[in-house]
Amino acid sequence: MRTIVGITGASGSIYGVDFLRRCPDDKFLITSKWGKRVLLEELGLKVEELAPWVKQSFDDRDLASPFSSGSNHFDAMVIIPCSVSTLGKIASGVADTLITRIASVALKERRKLVLAVRETPLDSIALENALKLSREGVVIMPLCPPHYRNPRSIDDLVEGFVNKVLSVVGARDDNGEGGWRHEELE
Ligand SMILES: Cc1cc2nc3c(=O)[nH]c(=O)nc-3n(C[C@H](O)[C@H](O)[C@H](O)COP(=O)(O)O)c2cc1C
Repeated sequence: MRTIVGITGASGSIYGVDFLRRCPDDKFLITSKWGKRVLLEELGLKVEELAPWVKQSFDDRDLASPFSSGSNHFDAMVIIPCSVSTLGKIASGVADTLITRIASVALKERRKLVLAVRETPLDSIALENALKLSREGVVIMPLCPPHYRNPRSIDDLVEGFVNKVLSVVGARDDNGEGGWRHEELE
C-alpha cells in the first residue's frame, strides 16, 4: 500500500506523526511550510526526524515531484492535520502546492482522500467546503478523538482517533475500535 501523508499548519501535528508511525507499508510525506512550524512548536520536531517512518519526503513547493501526476499510483492520501486553508483550496480546485495538487489528483482519479480537518469553531465557508468535498467522495474526519474507551492520556486520545483513520484507509479491519463492541450485539 502506498499512502501519501500531508501535514499542514493546523494544530494537532501529533496526530500526523502517530499516523505516519503506525500506517503500514510505503508512506510519502509532504509537510507544508506552516505544517513544519506547528510540528516544531507543538512537538519540538523537525521534518527530518520523521524520516524513520517515511519512504520519501517531498517539498510542498515541488510541483514537479512524481505524485503530481496521476500516472504515478498511490492508494490513499491522508492530510492530517488539515487546515481550513488547505480544505478551502482543495474544494475550490486550487493546486498551487504539492499537497493541494496531489489532493486534486486524488479527486480526478477517484482515489481515497481523507482530510482530518482541525479548526474550531467552523464557519459556514469551511462547512460548505467540507460538504462539497464529501459529496465528491472525500472522507472528512474532523480531528475529534473518541472518548468511549476511557482515554487516560493524550496518547490514548491520539491513538483512538488515528485507529479510526487507519481503518478508513484499510489498514485495520476493526473500524478503529480495537475490539470495542456493544454487549447486546455479541
Ligand atoms: C501555531 C499555529 C496553529 C495553527 N492552528 C490552526 C488550526 O488549528 N487550524 C487551521 O485551520 N489553521 C491553523 N493555523 C493557521 C494555518 O497555519 C494557516 O492558515 C496556514 O496558511 C495554513 O497553510 P497550510 O494549509 O498550507 O499549511 C495555525 C497556525 C499556527 C502558527
